[in-house]
Amino acid sequence: MSVERPSSLLCARRRLLVAACAAVGAPALAGAPPVLLRFSHVVAPDTPKGQMALRFQALVHQRGGGRIRVELYPDSQLWGDDDEMEALRLGAVEMLAPSLSKFGMAGVPEFEVFDLPYLFADLAQVRRVTQGAVGRGLLERLARQQMRGLGFLDNGFKQMSARRALRTPADYRGLRVRVQASRVLGEQMRALGAQPVVLPFGETQRALASGVVDAAENPPSNFLTQGLAALQPHLTLTQHGYLGYAVVTHPRFWESLSRVDRALVDDALAEALAHGNRLAEALDRQALATLRQTPGLRLHALGAAEREALRRHLRPVVDGFGRSVGAGLLRDVQRAIGSG
Ligand code: SIN
Repeated sequence: MSVERPSSLLCARRRLLVAACAAVGAPALAGAPPVLLRFSHVVAPDTPKGQMALRFQALVHQRGGGRIRVELYPDSQLWGDDDEMEALRLGAVEMLAPSLSKFGMAGVPEFEVFDLPYLFADLAQVRRVTQGAVGRGLLERLARQQMRGLGFLDNGFKQMSARRALRTPADYRGLRVRVQASRVLGEQMRALGAQPVVLPFGETQRALASGVVDAAENPPSNFLTQGLAALQPHLTLTQHGYLGYAVVTHPRFWESLSRVDRALVDDALAEALAHGNRLAEALDRQALATLRQTPGLRLHALGAAEREALRRHLRPVVDGFGRSVGAGLLRDVQRAIGSG
């Protein structure tokens, strides 16, 4: 694909640079200071993001000879949704991979385009956006909020869980639904007559267990690894929205790295992201297969007419985004989706 050629050439040049330093006894690295890169995220290791982070750590350790240390903090162990971006600004963590839904409240509302219901039919469509000019433009916008965007990662499509099946718009009425801090996701729930409750990911399980919220939307790998099946006996396969991530660092940290270290980290991340993106669909399928065998959990597939009724109800959310954030961006995204 033409958009991939320049970046793979760049990667090849960078690999040569890193290899050249290594081949001559790494004089460029002699006496180079150790680097600590703390990578914090909120999900379990056995998810696309968790696996991507592990691969990134392994590649950096292998290629950096131990001088560049990557410390991984999954499961909100170090920072959670509420404080991770502030921690990045303060230099208390060097790398994050928030879901795209979380960049809107951080001052880049354009990212909420990814939350629009039924915008993408499959991951191939998502990638036409994230891996092309629109995606590059979005990553560049993060500079406005002192972040450097390094790449996109897929998880998958969200399904609705509750204590009852959610087949029709009427089934949503009156439910308190945990959502991420995204205006689009809030609007989506209001359009269905539900009450959106914004909660950090790390607090979702407790909130469902204690009845603070009644329902949630998650891709299968998050639903499974958070143990939500024990709390939400019905999983309706609505497939209504996409969940993905952007890996970000702080420009101050990025610029503090030597040219060689930056290339090493950048290459390792590009490979780890490709690995995570390849894994995403397989992990999604595996999680669904496990959930189908989970005692006490019922999965409900929607028919075409049921899906269409949901889509019709949610259409004003898409139109509202065009009016409030940008009809131009929405058009660019739709054009990229249609260009496959
Ligand atoms: C994540 O996958 O990083 C968390 C998504 C969520 O907050 O629902």
